[in-house]
Amino acid sequence: MRQLKTELITQTELTPQLEKEIVTIAERYHKEPHQLMRILLDIQKVASNAITREVAVVISRVTGIPEAQLYGFISFYAMISPQPRGTYVIRMCESAPCHVTGALAVMESIIKTLGLQPGETSKDGRFTLEYCQCLGVCESSPAILINDMIYKNLTPGRAATLMEDYMRGDVG
Ligand code: FES
Repeated sequence: MRQLKTELITQTELTPQLEKEIVTIAERYHKEPHQLMRILLDIQKVASNAITREVAVVISRVTGIPEAQLYGFISFYAMISPQPRGTYVIRMCESAPCHVTGALAVMESIIKTLGLQPGETSKDGRFTLEYCQCLGVCESSPAILINDMIYKNLTPGRAATLMEDYMRGDVG
C-alpha cells in the first residue's frame, strides 16, 4: 500500500483569485441573509474546506457581519472548520453502534493506508481524517463519511481498498 507523506497544513494562502471567489459568494448574503450557512459552506468549498481567519475577515468586510459573530457561528457548527482541511474530509463515526461493530479496526486500516492520524491533513492537501458522531446509518455500521458520501458496512479490507481508490483518483 502506498503511503502519503504527511505534515500538518496550518494555513490557507489567500490569493487574489481566491479572494475574488470568496467575495463573489459572500455578496449573495445581501440578497439572502437567511442563507448564511449555505453561503459559508459554499465559501468553504473553494477555500481549503475551511473558514480560516483570513477568509472570515473577507466575509466580514463584504457582508458587514462582525468578525466575532462570524467566529461564534463557525465554532458552533461542526460542518464548518476554522482549520484548513483536505479536498476529501474523511470522517469515521465513533459513536457506540459503530464502535461495537469494528470502527476501531476500520480506522486503523484507514490510518495505515493514508499515513494520517485523526486531525491531520495530508501535505498534498487531498485528505483530512477526523472522527465524528453518529451518521444515522447505525444498522449498516461501521460507517464513514467522505465529504457528502456515506460508506457503510466497512471492514478493514474494504476501507483500505476504498482509500486506495480515492488516492488513485478512481472515485470522488
Ligand atoms: S453509530 Fe455510527 S452510524 Fe450511527
